[in-house]
Amino acid sequence: KNIVILISGRGSNMQSIVNANIPNANIVAVLSNNPDAAGLAWATERGIATAALNHKDFASREAFDQAMMLLIDAYEPDLVVLAGFMRILTPAFCQHYAERCINIHPSLLPSFTGLHTHQRAIDEGCRVAGCTIHFVTEVLDNGAIIAQGVVPILDNDTADDVAARVLAVEHQLLPQAVADFVSGSLKIVGKRVIKRHQAD
Ligand code: GRF
Repeated sequence: KNIVILISGRGSNMQSIVNANIPNANIVAVLSNNPDAAGLAWATERGIATAALNHKDFASREAFDQAMMLLIDAYEPDLVVLAGFMRILTPAFCQHYAERCINIHPSLLPSFTGLHTHQRAIDEGCRVAGCTIHFVTEVLDNGAIIAQGVVPILDNDTADDVAARVLAVEHQLLPQAVADFVSGSLKIVGKRVIKRHQAD
């Protein structure tokens, strides 16, 4: 299966997918809206095709997404992974990749959609934080949930402390979710994702 990964920065989640050497998962491109994303250089060094489309060069969100879709589709992806991709996507983009685009979000959805999730969880007095991998729909951070991981929030934690604890879990769950998608184990039933076993 062909996989295109979208990043905006460091790309540690992208690295976790590449490093997992998932059977039948061919990472055909790493793309970014940010030409300076550190993860692009990392992928290039490993011989993976990379490209950046700077969203600032486009007049509208729609124009950027249309260009991104053309770029992505040139790689004939079976799956598009948003791995720290920090742009809100248009309905046209989300519909085009319906049921073949997944996102990792650093909160226990449906709590804390959007930005600054860990600080908001601390401010609310939450005792746990986490991450969610979900299918992308046109409603932000709202598609069917594939996997979630939980970590404690400890007294005196800063948002950075929580982020580091959650990130370690992200690096476990995201490659697993990609592997499950590639092996055909994920079935979307309404808002839920059922994990099929090979024998089912
Ligand atoms: C991750 O925590 C992701 O959940 C969030 O931004 C961070 C990206 O990190 N949206 P990286 O670029 O994968 O290292």
